[in-house]
Amino acid sequence: MVVIGPHNPTGHAPSTDEWNEISKFCLTHNLPLICDEVFRNFWWGTENLVRPDPKDFPLLLTLDGLSKSFGLPGLKSGWVVLEGRDQSRVALLRRALEHLLDAFLAVSEQSQAATEALLKSSVGQAWMRSLAAQVGQRVANWGSAARAGGVEILVPLAGWHLIWPRNEPETENPADALRKETSRLRQLVLDHGIVVHSGTWYGLSHGDLVTTGLTRPTPALIRALAAG
Ligand SMILES: Cc1ncc(COP(=O)(O)O)c(C=O)c1O
Repeated sequence: MVVIGPHNPTGHAPSTDEWNEISKFCLTHNLPLICDEVFRNFWWGTENLVRPDPKDFPLLLTLDGLSKSFGLPGLKSGWVVLEGRDQSRVALLRRALEHLLDAFLAVSEQSQAATEALLKSSVGQAWMRSLAAQVGQRVANWGSAARAGGVEILVPLAGWHLIWPRNEPETENPADALRKETSRLRQLVLDHGIVVHSGTWYGLSHGDLVTTGLTRPTPALIRALAAG
């Protein structure tokens, strides 16, 4: 079972009740849970982010990395935390993953050393907190600029992507929806130099657009999005 929590781009993360359901399912079917937490430092909810409890899963693999938390995708460093009820499976999987990750997906020695230093040092921890605060501010700026410009925007509960929901009805012919979306994306690139993703890349509909909230919401761009 794989859960992306917080999810990208919606920012959804399971509630305590949802985690309990997921746990019951994994225990009943003796399934490992893989939980992708790369956006956990970018959680904007007022309640704390609820995380899966290792005691509730036969095997829990939590994924994280430098790419998002430290804004360092170029270092190509991520990690898996192995936990769970079944200690013999945890030990077996640790041996297997150590072999596989060294043999086939080795991370450079420099990146491995940098990862440890960043995670253990107070400088690294301060860097992580400051990045999250800056990103939170930028995403919030987008939310207020969009509201002020009369544009409907979904500010996620986590992460840094914004969703501009389609304004056409769901029943629209898919070929027409694709044509309209393509022309809108093209106009945004050519007129404003901004690359906006099609929602279909994320399992959303044609016409739902996804963009980063890391940039500055210029008035011209807000007007272009409002014009739809
Ligand atoms: C939810 C989620 N997990 C993992 C990744 C992969 O991150 P990276 O390969 O940069 O470490 C991404 C990238 O956008 C993501 O959105």
